[in-house]
Amino acid sequence: MIDPSSPCCARRADTKAVQGYVDRSQSFRPVSYPIYQTTTYVNPGLGSEIDYSYSRCSNPTRTQLENTAALLEGGMAAYAFSSGLAAEDALFSILEQGSHVVMGNDVYGGTYRQTMEYWRRFGLEFTFADATDPGRIERACRPNTRMIYVETPTNPMMKVADIAALSAVARAKGLLLTVDNTFLTPYFQRPIDFGADIVIHSATKYLAGHNDTIAGLAVVKDEALAARFDFMARTLGSALSPMDSWLTLRGIKTLALRMERHQSNALAAAEFLRGHKKVAEVLYAGLPDHPGYEISRRQSTGFGGMLSLTLKDASDVGKMLSGGRMIMFAESLGGVETLITYPKTQTHASIPPELCEELGITEKLVRLSVGIENPADIIEDLDRMLG
Ligand SMILES: Cc1ncc(COP(=O)(O)O)c(C=O)c1O
Repeated sequence: MIDPSSPCCARRADTKAVQGYVDRSQSFRPVSYPIYQTTTYVNPGLGSEIDYSYSRCSNPTRTQLENTAALLEGGMAAYAFSSGLAAEDALFSILEQGSHVVMGNDVYGGTYRQTMEYWRRFGLEFTFADATDPGRIERACRPNTRMIYVETPTNPMMKVADIAALSAVARAKGLLLTVDNTFLTPYFQRPIDFGADIVIHSATKYLAGHNDTIAGLAVVKDEALAARFDFMARTLGSALSPMDSWLTLRGIKTLALRMERHQSNALAAAEFLRGHKKVAEVLYAGLPDHPGYEISRRQSTGFGGMLSLTLKDASDVGKMLSGGRMIMFAESLGGVETLITYPKTQTHASIPPELCEELGITEKLVRLSVGIENPADIIEDLDRMLG
């Protein structure tokens, strides 16, 4: 849990990301936080109260990452897991059997698989509804609903949900609101400021930022939630390793610079693509005619580096995916390299075909995670791929 009276010396997100959480209770302060590569810690004597006894439960490098994530998101505490899906596993584990969750209907395919093919077997219930319409989310609630869970912007359709409006629904019904903030990161969006209770991250993506680390985070707003997550973090055994905690911390130091460049490159790519004769539609929340543009401007300070597009002709998809000299056809997102992904058979393969069709995840849809290369090289390559 972070000490709100002992925060980082700065108020601004870019500085906080560089400096990380400052623990004033320590008599020394390493500039680069060390990797405590240890499983266990010496116990000073019977009856001693110690912060660190065994690294599955707590590890100083992981604590530094967790405190930095809590600081950036404006939460009270954070918990670092071995992947984004492990963070979601801990999230759904805090619910009692028989609980119902209203999910945004456009979520990462692995989230869909975990809820429908795993958690349903253990007595949780899920209804998927369009999170851009708070009325639909409200109507999907039942007497046993305990949580609303949304991504915004969504993966891969880039839909934007109004966090404050969803929070009003959650408050009125006594539900928890969870927001997956993977796409925008706390540099551009802080869901807790708009009423979310829990923020989930695939830290594998922009937070770690270099396509070299799998990690997840759950950030919570208050002490009661912290106690529930603390138990799960110690009990499920999926806590993040010291080395991966350090890699994520190192990634976060350059978050602001990377996010700015991801965003300006994504805007340049979106503008190029929407003018191309082979492209039917470009989905990017930073285009002023995107349906979520105004909401984004209210709740976010940026639009991020992710965009999707539909091609006019499905026969152009193969060349688009593999025809780049620089842009790589690969799953994942948020790293410094530009990646192109085919949601239908990659990230969203677990979503039933009827739902994919309804959402627009068709054979003509491709997703771009725009990297931080020179924008002219990205556009030249996109031109070649569409060629
Ligand atoms: C929005 C979103 N949330 C969660 C996840 C799961 O994260 P991980 O792959 O780190 O388990 C992903 C993975 O792509 C994602 O895109």
